[in-house]
Amino acid sequence: MERLEELVVKNVSHSFGFDDILKDINFKLEKGKVLSIVGPSGGGKTTLLHLCAHLLDLEEGQIQNNFKSSSYAFQEARLLPWKNVIDNISLGLKAKGIKREEREKEARKIALEFGLDKDDFEKFPKDLSGGMKQRVSFARAMVTKPSLLFLDEPFSALDIGLKKELQMMLIKTIEKENLSVLFITHDLMEAIKLSDEVLLLKAEPVGHIVKTFTYTLPQILRDDEFVYDQTAKLLLNRTIIETFELELK
Ligand SMILES: Nc1ncnc2c1ncn2[C@@H]1O[C@H](COP(=O)(O)OP(=O)(O)OP(=O)(O)O)[C@@H](O)[C@H]1O
Ligand SMILES: [Mg+2]
Repeated sequence: MERLEELVVKNVSHSFGFDDILKDINFKLEKGKVLSIVGPSGGGKTTLLHLCAHLLDLEEGQIQNNFKSSSYAFQEARLLPWKNVIDNISLGLKAKGIKREEREKEARKIALEFGLDKDDFEKFPKDLSGGMKQRVSFARAMVTKPSLLFLDEPFSALDIGLKKELQMMLIKTIEKENLSVLFITHDLMEAIKLSDEVLLLKAEPVGHIVKTFTYTLPQILRDDEFVYDQTAKLLLNRTIIETFELELK
């Protein structure tokens, strides 16, 4: 029998030295779903994603990742400085043993889809803007067609038009490929637009999940009005106000 593709996080806690960062985190991400973790800066979102992606050693609890393949786009783009745009994007394809010609073709195609220009293909990371680096990083994660995608604020350095375009591209890929995404953001609108489930991570006194919001309308049908309405609702929610410390003093 084929194994169910899912990511299950059970009773996970983490500390750096004497600093307790995460406490008793529980959730499940199923195939084809988008689960977002939102919360204020420093709350442990990136730490949690790193634990899920096995980039940090797990100290306490269990994390089971049964997805067939996964890839990541990090908060900072983490491109290889000695490789140009196309070579950076095609890294994952190289690891899969795909021939140079084929992987360059794929990388060029996806680079154009992600709003990069032909003139940028030979550029090295030091000559790219922050937004361009993020696009390369996101393209590098998507080009391998993973089953699970870990995204840590992949759109934070993009202008609003490009952000919308890439969000839509992600939504279409989720539909078409039945992609699953663990998405980190502190942008509530973005979380509402993309997610089936939004977990709210409160930082004080230690990172813990205080609330889960579920959205059932298919992402493709979520227009601006839906996103604005739902965001307005969240901004009036007591737990959101406390978690993000939105109260005017
Ligand atoms: N390698 C590390 N060693 C020690 N402390 C760390 C390390 N990585 C993160 N921290 C600390 O853990 C806490 C949570 O950091 P983390 O990067 O997970 O937050 P975040 O929610 O992703 O914040 P942001 O929204 O600003 O990206 C912070 O206090 C940070 O200083
Ligand atoms: Mg972070």
